[in-house]
Amino acid sequence: MYRTHTCGELRIGNKGERVTLAGWVQKARKLGGMTFIDLRDRYGITQLVVEADAPADLVDTATSLGREFVIQAVGEVVERQAKNSKMPTGDIEIKVTALSILNKSVTPPFTIEDESDGGDDLRMKYRYLDLRRGPLRRALTLRHRVAHEIRNYLDDKGFMEIETPYLIKSTPEGARDFVVPSRMNPGQFYALPQSPQTFKQLLMVAGYDRYFQIVRCFRDEDLRADRQPEFTQIDCEMSFVEQEDVLNTFEGMMRTLFKNVLNVEIPNPLPRMTWYDAMDKYGSDKPDVRFGMEIHELTDVAKGKGFGVLDGAAYIGAIAVPGVAEYTRKQVDELTEWVKRPQVGAKGLIYIRVNADGTFKSSIDKFYGAEDLARIASAAEAKPGDLLLVMSGDNKRKVQTMLGVLRLEMGNRLGFRDPKVFAPLWIVDFPLLEWDDETQRFYAMHHPFTAPKPEHEKWFYSNAKEDLERVCANAYDFVLNGSELGGGSIRIHNADMQKRMFEVLGIGPEEAELKFGFIIHAFQYGAPPHGGLAFGFDRVCALMGGSDSIRDYIAFPKNNQGRDVMIDSPSEIDQEQLDELQIALNVKTAE
Ligand code: AMO
Repeated sequence: MYRTHTCGELRIGNKGERVTLAGWVQKARKLGGMTFIDLRDRYGITQLVVEADAPADLVDTATSLGREFVIQAVGEVVERQAKNSKMPTGDIEIKVTALSILNKSVTPPFTIEDESDGGDDLRMKYRYLDLRRGPLRRALTLRHRVAHEIRNYLDDKGFMEIETPYLIKSTPEGARDFVVPSRMNPGQFYALPQSPQTFKQLLMVAGYDRYFQIVRCFRDEDLRADRQPEFTQIDCEMSFVEQEDVLNTFEGMMRTLFKNVLNVEIPNPLPRMTWYDAMDKYGSDKPDVRFGMEIHELTDVAKGKGFGVLDGAAYIGAIAVPGVAEYTRKQVDELTEWVKRPQVGAKGLIYIRVNADGTFKSSIDKFYGAEDLARIASAAEAKPGDLLLVMSGDNKRKVQTMLGVLRLEMGNRLGFRDPKVFAPLWIVDFPLLEWDDETQRFYAMHHPFTAPKPEHEKWFYSNAKEDLERVCANAYDFVLNGSELGGGSIRIHNADMQKRMFEVLGIGPEEAELKFGFIIHAFQYGAPPHGGLAFGFDRVCALMGGSDSIRDYIAFPKNNQGRDVMIDSPSEIDQEQLDELQIALNVKTAE
C-alpha cells in the first residue's frame, strides 16, 4: 500500500498512530542534525521529521532529498513542539522510521509554494508544476465543487444533461468561428460551436423540455482576463416557460450555489434593473452595484452659460466621487490624462470641488458662478467633500459608457470593490436590435433567436428604423460585481417570426436557408414556446473565488495570444496533412 492517509488529513487525534504517506517534497531543511520535510499532495502538507539519531541510511536518504522528489514515508504521528496554527496539520508531525524515494525530480524552474518566484510565462510553460501550488489547487477544487452543485441542483429540478456536437456549422454569437477542415469533404469546413444555441433549441423541438450541459465553447476573439478562446458554459434551456420561470429557476441555482459552496446568502428575490436604467445610472450593461456613485444627467442644468463644450453637447453627465474634494491639482490632472487614454477615449474631464465648507472650486469657474455650481452639484446629488467629475459629448451612450469606466476606476481606487462582497442582479428588457452606423444595418443585441416582447411585436413588423430601435426583447443577463456571468432569452418558436428576424438583420432568404434552414424547418414541426440561458462557468468560478481572471480556474488555459505555451500550440502541420486535406497555405509574412 502506497499510503494510509493523505498529506492533508492527520490531526492531533491521530497521535500515536503508525501511518504511511506519499507525496512530493516541497522543502527539506536540516536543523541541528534533524531533517524536516514538508510533504505535499493534493490534500495538503504534512511535516515529516527524521531525527538525528535515526539509522544512518535513513538520515542519508533524508539528506539526499531534493525539491519535488516523490517519496513514501512510514512513521508515527507525534505532537509537534512548535505548533503551526496556520496549517490544518500544524499540530502534528510524522516521526519517520522508513523513507523511500519513489522518483527523483530535476530542480524545478520555480519554487512550488503558495508564493512562487516564477513569472507568468514560466509558470504557464510548466503548468503541471504550477498546478501543484496551493492557489491553483484551491481554484480547481472550487471549480469541481461548483460543477457538482450545479449538476445536483439541475438534476433535482428535472433537467437532463445532453451532449451536443463540436463539429458543427457556424452559430451566430457574434465572434469569429474556429474552423476545422474536413478531409472527407475537401474544401469544406466544420465550425466549432460558439455555443450549443441552435442544438439546444432543436432539443426543445424534440421534446426534452429541460436540458442542460456543462459544455466547451469556442470563440476566436480578442482575449482579456475574463475571456478565453475555449471556455465552458453552463448551458440551459426550458420549454413551456416565460421569462419569470427562467429567472426564478436560475437565481435559485445561483442562490443554492453560493450557499452550499461559500455559505453566502444572496438576496431573494434578486434585484432587477432594466438595460436602460443600467446604462443611464452606471454607464454599463453589467453594473457593479456594490457601491453608489451613480451617473446623473446634467444636460439641462449645465447649459447656457456660454461655455461652448457644454452648450454644444447633446448629453452632459457626472459622477460625485465621495470624500475626495481635496484631491490635489496633480491628482485631478492625472485623472484627466487617465480618461484621455484610448481605452477610455474621453476628450477631457471637468471637475467641481464641492468643498466641506460649502464653497465650490471648479475647472469652469470662468463661466459658472457659485450659484450655478450649487445647482449642478445638487442635480448630481453631490455632498460636501465630494469631487464632481463631469463629461459631455454628442452621443449619450458613449458619454455614459466613459463615465461608467471612470466610476469603476474610482471605485477601485477608493476600495469600494471588495471581492468578498457579492452584489448579483438581473439586467432585463434589453433592446432587441442594435443599429450600426458603419454598416448601416441592425445587429441582434443578444442573438437572432431571441424573441421580441409580445407587446412590442407591432414595432418588430414595422419597417421604420425608430420602431425597430424601440423593440425590447425578453432577454436577461445575470450580472455580478461588474461582470456578466450569464445571459439568455425567451426564443422565437415560430418559423415566420424567425424569418422576419433574419429579414430585419439583412440576412436574405437564400442565406437564411443556407445557414439556418435546419432550424426554420424544425420550427414547422411543433416547436414549443421555450427559453433559456447560459452562464460562463469559468467566470462563475473565478468570481466565487474572488478573482476576475478566469485563467487560474482553468487547468490548461491559453495565454493572451491564444497560445498554449506548454504544448506549443497552435503549430504548423505537415505538408502531408495539408495535402490530405487539399489545403494550400497563403500565409502573409509580417512586413
Ligand atoms: P453569451 O454569448 O452571452 O450567450 O454567453 C454566455 C456566457 O458565456 C460567458 N462567455 C465567456 N466566458 C469566457 N470566455 C469567453 N470568450 C466568453 N464568451 C462568453 C459569459 C457569458 O455571459 N447561447 C447564448 C446563451 C443563451 O441565449 O442561452 C450565449 O452563448 O459569462
